Amino acid sequence: MNNRTRYIKKMDTNESKHDRKSELKAFDDTKSGVKGLVDAGVSKVPQIFISPPDTYSNSNTGQFIFPVIDLQDMDSHDQINRKKVIEKVRDASETWGFFQVINHGVPCDVMEEMIRGVCSFHEQDTDIKKQWYTRELTKRVVYNSNFDLYNAPATNWRDTFFCIMAPNPPSPEELPPICRDIIVKYSEEVKKLGRSLFELLAEALGLNRNYLNEMDCGEGLSVVCHYYPACPEPELTLGASKHADDGFLTLLLQDHIGGLQVLHRNHWVDVPPTPGALVVNIADLLQLISNDKFKSVEHRVLANRVGPRISIACFFSTFFLEASRLYGPIKELLSEENPSKYRETTIQEYAAYFTAKGLDGTSALQHFRL
Ligand code: OGA
Ligand code: NI
Repeated sequence: MNNRTRYIKKMDTNESKHDRKSELKAFDDTKSGVKGLVDAGVSKVPQIFISPPDTYSNSNTGQFIFPVIDLQDMDSHDQINRKKVIEKVRDASETWGFFQVINHGVPCDVMEEMIRGVCSFHEQDTDIKKQWYTRELTKRVVYNSNFDLYNAPATNWRDTFFCIMAPNPPSPEELPPICRDIIVKYSEEVKKLGRSLFELLAEALGLNRNYLNEMDCGEGLSVVCHYYPACPEPELTLGASKHADDGFLTLLLQDHIGGLQVLHRNHWVDVPPTPGALVVNIADLLQLISNDKFKSVEHRVLANRVGPRISIACFFSTFFLEASRLYGPIKELLSEENPSKYRETTIQEYAAYFTAKGLDGTSALQHFRL
């Protein structure tokens, strides 16, 4: 019996559920994540990590061309160039939900230092790192493995730490010393780029340039720093299960290893690691307020025999604030032919639903559909 058959057999019995739960607890109690297993020399992927088989095929290389948008001179008064960029942003947001940006203004050395800083956080002495290990999402700095460990059907081959950097960033002393300065610096750059992207996205929706920023879409920023260790049996597990992102928008910095794939026309398409580029994707709340004009598209990360792979996902969302503001489809976008497809919700309600569900392969957005 191979591991996948084992997975399917086991999922059906109550006994296996109990087994799984205690295995998860034992893994959680180590407080050293997947990296801890790899350091201890595991040569087989433990049962809890085995993912069910996937039904989509990988696209042949070159079948689809992943969109790249050059943001050079975006702040100049060259309106013709700006219009062209807005057109590309609209097209990519409607069809892919994803694009890469180049010449975006975030200095290359800051990006490289951020990747190094995140790597050094995960590779520092385990006893030091453990002090941040928690499942309490009210903490300003959270390190753990699999935010949805006890809810998701399969555990992912990755560890993560995150900090909430806007609004009200933590004082520098609260951040891990090993990467403190670069996190602050990188977050400042991302906030700036976020504002410009929300301007472009607003115009791409046919709205006033400041519309999305005035709705506070760029107000909250969490910086989520992933570490995907090398994996001895990458075909049995995933770095990240298929999911769409919560929040409004995600800006991702990935290193050179690769593994991120986007579901496009029922094919898994690789997001090619591109030096100097950042990956932008529409997240669920932007799909909701745009009434499905922009798409929050599912993606996943493959495990890899080679590693570690480092990526930093910056989520624009204020899920961590107590706020009662309601978000629903933007009135200016609605008409008799295009009636509202979603009920209004708060970011907190949305995020709580997303987190409780975990990365189980289904869309959280459906729950809010009228
Ligand atoms: C995420 C995500 C992709 C990556 O954090 O939501 O999809 O490449 N990350 O790490
Ligand atoms: Ni994601």
